[in-house]
Amino acid sequence: MRIIHRLDELRKARAALKGGKLALVPTMGALHDGHLALVREAKWHAARVVVSIFVNPRQFGVNEDLDAYPRQLERDCALLQTEGVDLIWAPTAEEMYREGYATNVAVAGVSEGLCGAARPGHFDGVATVVCKLFNQVEPDVALFGEKDWQQLAVIRRMARDLDLRRPHADMVFGVPTVREQDGLALSSRNAYLSAEDRARAAVLPAAIKKAVAEISGGKPVAEALKRLRAALLSGGFDAVDYAELRDAETLVELTERPTDHARLLVAARIGGTRLIDNMEAWSG
Ligand code: PAF
Repeated sequence: MRIIHRLDELRKARAALKGGKLALVPTMGALHDGHLALVREAKWHAARVVVSIFVNPRQFGVNEDLDAYPRQLERDCALLQTEGVDLIWAPTAEEMYREGYATNVAVAGVSEGLCGAARPGHFDGVATVVCKLFNQVEPDVALFGEKDWQQLAVIRRMARDLDLRRPHADMVFGVPTVREQDGLALSSRNAYLSAEDRARAAVLPAAIKKAVAEISGGKPVAEALKRLRAALLSGGFDAVDYAELRDAETLVELTERPTDHARLLVAARIGGTRLIDNMEAWSG
């Protein structure tokens, strides 16, 4: 397994990775079982797997956790070695955004609302870096966690709109969220939670699951969402940024029981940490 920090070296190493399809798993490091599930899924799709590790400054807002974001490259590399990854692409910020860098990729529509409302510029940063990673690595397939459902929708829209060929939009795959035993979605940010908040955080997946069951059972959407918010606040969350039912692909808001693929998406804050989660609410 090679660990590469410079673009010229990546290009050479990429050219040498011949024989079969190549999958890219973009990450910001601090790897957990959710990332490893992406790598394992990547191996079903491709003979070669590249994992990128880059804490992308452009997707963090001014008051966000860029400096505090966990960085543990050595540990991440050891984990990926045991998974049989071929290459790790770990550029520095200076290598990714060279002097004079001035280009931004902005995806309208799906980027707006939900996390886009609370984190202005976040999805521009994500779309920009993922577009660059795609051009740098030129994968046949790319894999992203479904926990960041809006991010997945943004990346698919971008790949489609820019007629990307490596990977083609149809080759951008979402991988189901990996959860702890109590249902909490794995996230590098769970490390910020105190033991008490960590225990309380399990109310988030439980409340989403209950609301999904209510909506599927025919209860009015607004009432199910109201109960979900109340359950989070009484269960120890300090604030609910959003709790919405959306079309799974376009992310258009749904106020009635869905007839097509739908997703229930939530962001809520507990002890200064913002957690997001989502579940399928209707499979069409
Ligand atoms: O989901 C992430 O870890 C990041 O947003 C991504 C896709 C690697 C882009 O920086």
